[in-house]
This record gives sequence, C-alpha cells and structure tokens, in this order.
Amino acid sequence: MNIAIYPGSFDPITCGHLDIITRCSKLYDEVIVAVLNNSSKSPLFTTEERIKLIEKSTANLNNVRAEGFDGLLVEYAKSKNTHTIIKGLRAISDFEYEFQMALLNKKLSSEIETLFMVTSESHSYISSSIVKEIAILGGSVRDLVPDEIICDLIQKIEKRR
Ligand code: PNS
Repeated sequence: MNIAIYPGSFDPITCGHLDIITRCSKLYDEVIVAVLNNSSKSPLFTTEERIKLIEKSTANLNNVRAEGFDGLLVEYAKSKNTHTIIKGLRAISDFEYEFQMALLNKKLSSEIETLFMVTSESHSYISSSIVKEIAILGGSVRDLVPDEIICDLIQKIEKRR
C-alpha cells in the first residue's frame, strides 16, 4: 500500500487543504491527514474537533482518514509504514520554511521524503488564520472553508464571544 501523510494544524481545514487532500487521494492508496496535537499554539478547535471537521469535509473520499499525532513527524510517519510526507505550497513565501522543515526531517530520518504539491491558484491566498480572522470579524467564509464545516466554524466563534 502506498500511504501518504499530509500533516498540519488544520485549525480549521480550509478549501486549500481540501484541494491538496483530494488531489493526493488520486495518487496514493491511502492518505492520512495528520493533525498536530499542538497545545502550545492554543488552537480554536481541539484536536478531536479538527479531526471531525476533516472527516466531515472528506466524507466522499474513501481512501482518506484523519488522526491526531504528537511528537516528531518522522517518527509518526514511520509508525504508519510510510516514508512520504506531503506538503502544500501556496507561494514562494511558504517555500523557505517548508524547505527548512524538509531538510530537518531528512536529517532526522534519511528515508523520509517530503513531496511538495502546489496549491491550485484559486486557493493560493487562503490560510486557516486568515479564515478565522474573517469569521471572527463577521465576514463570509464561503469558498474559503469546505461547505460542510461553515456552521461549525461560525458556532465555535459565537461560543467564544
Ligand atoms: O499547519 P502547520 O502548523 O504549518 O503544520 C506544521 C507541522 C505539523 C507540519 C509541523 O509543526 C510538524 O511537523 N510538527 C511535528 C513536530 C516535528 O516533527 N517537528 C520537527 C519538524 S522539522
């Protein structure tokens, strides 16, 4: 089985993430969307909630599943019997950070390969933090996050008020 890991914070999943996941699901037997359990970042959604939102958004993709992970990404990838990490690139500005991460992951584990997938042009300006800011300020997040999770995002922000 050819398995790919697509790691991130996904707080929350955006249309840009979903674009990468969908395209990746056509290339691999299984795609594991790995949600970082990042307590230090104080995310809007808990890890369990972020996993549920990914599951809702990818319900039509049979070979995609989401799960949380702690610790080093390379160790997590090994535990899933894969060497493939997928990262999305939106712009040149992403590249510098992602390049550093890819080299560090390679240093930590030489079998790990980081493959970059270029985000579709129509999603290149979307990020989870911008989406949260728009939602907090009462703007529309349609076409920015998957339709299936718009209500969850609005409800979460209303609860936080
Ligand atoms: O969506 P994000 O926040 O940009 O995702 C970052 C993520 C989860 C890919 C990165 O923080 C990560 O891999 N964390 C796991 C810890 C780890 O392995 N750190 C060393 C990377 S060189």
